Amino acid sequence: MSLCFSNSLVTLHFLAKTQSTRLSSQFINQIQVSSIPYALPASSLKLSKPFECSTQRLNPITVSTVPTVETAPSSFRNKTPKDINVLVVGSTGYIGAFVVKELLSRGFNVIAVAREKSGIRAKNNKEETLNQLKGANVCFSDVTRLDSLEKTLDNLGVSVDVVVSCLASRSGGVKDSWKIDYEATKNSLVAGRNRGASHFVLLSAICVQKPLLEFQRAKLKLEAELMKEAEVDNAFTYSIVRPTAFFKSLGGQVELVKDGKPYVMFGDGKLCACKPISESDLASFIADCVLSKDMINQVLPIGGPGKALTPLEQGETLFKLLGREPKFLKVPIGIMDFAIGVLDFLVKIFPSMEDAAEFGKIGRYYAAESMLILDPETGEYSAEKTPSYGKDTLEEFFERVLREGMEGQELGEQTIF
Ligand SMILES: NC(=O)c1ccc[n+]([C@@H]2O[C@H](COP(=O)([O-])OP(=O)(O)OC[C@H]3O[C@@H](n4cnc5c(N)ncnc54)[C@H](OP(=O)(O)O)[C@@H]3O)[C@@H](O)[C@H]2O)c1
Repeated sequence: MSLCFSNSLVTLHFLAKTQSTRLSSQFINQIQVSSIPYALPASSLKLSKPFECSTQRLNPITVSTVPTVETAPSSFRNKTPKDINVLVVGSTGYIGAFVVKELLSRGFNVIAVAREKSGIRAKNNKEETLNQLKGANVCFSDVTRLDSLEKTLDNLGVSVDVVVSCLASRSGGVKDSWKIDYEATKNSLVAGRNRGASHFVLLSAICVQKPLLEFQRAKLKLEAELMKEAEVDNAFTYSIVRPTAFFKSLGGQVELVKDGKPYVMFGDGKLCACKPISESDLASFIADCVLSKDMINQVLPIGGPGKALTPLEQGETLFKLLGREPKFLKVPIGIMDFAIGVLDFLVKIFPSMEDAAEFGKIGRYYAAESMLILDPETGEYSAEKTPSYGKDTLEEFFERVLREGMEGQELGEQTIF
């Protein structure tokens, strides 16, 4: 999922759209997340779905018999990247695709798990996916089903040293968040562990510090299980990466402003701030987590270079680049609260509107909450305490979008993602 932090216009569009949300008769059931088997032996699993694994572009992989979880796991850190097998799930996402490229450029053997139809609105077919992940060993499988994932990896017949998860719900809906951000991610942990993985790198989000949304709760549950796993088996390690805002989440208004529209923001435009990070800088940070001993068993909040930026400052940057006088449309945050109140009321009568209500809360959250380190005692966000990494700036990104458009930076499947 990608979240639109300061794209107030898009959020407002969402508000208009939810008024006409079609009522579905399907009730959304909470997934029984606790019933997922952990470290279930592959032999005990029923295989109910055929799988496919592309061997066309198979790199030489360190082949071994599937090891047991007790195998001396940390030894991968003594190997060179070409002998380290990294399983990447969520490999076709905005960040995942860059992570695959970055790992390949560092010489790792990358096993990238993908769906046969991948990308936003499943727009990429197998050939396009293979092309996107060129250089990796691409396996087509269903990460939402442990049996499918196990079978795919069994077929590949290799051990796994490290799992990197860039999985995320593409909608942010309640059911889908639990299915992907928790359940599917856990499946990748289980399948990876069953093949010897002793390190797990999780792409999480800085906003889980203040969990008010379902996808944040799902991510936190997975984070907690990684920590627990490292506690019970001290040969297992994790790195939990919690980035601030991605560039794509802040670029939604660039072309509109270029066309003469005002920059839309909530309140005075200073309700929230973030330290935006580019997809390639974040991919590099995530790749660092594979081998860096300093990043072991750490929760790693991370932003991009430079100071924190409010929506007002982002808008000013944009007008400066365009050489125009700033033109803002300031929207009272109370509008969001009203809409959420209405949706919360409606969901009591029509439970199938659960996702619409959740999207309203997501919009409200990113209109007012900063993507910075939160001091739990004072409840204040701190730009100074939020670490910076990388070199790409939001200004450069805005320049590029003004020149080339938002190609490759599209938001997800819901209006607000
Ligand atoms: N946007 C931001 O500013 C921001 C900031 C901080 C943190 N984050 C966090 O970053 C994470 C990833 O973001 P992103 O933008 O890279 O995500 P994304 O582009 O939406 O990618 C999601 C990945 O998960 C896979 N996936 C989703 N549903 C699936 C399903 N049912 N079965 C199999 N695979 C599925 C997608 O596969 P397909 O291609 O097959 O759909 C894709 O590879 C999220 O957890 C988000 O919370 C975002």
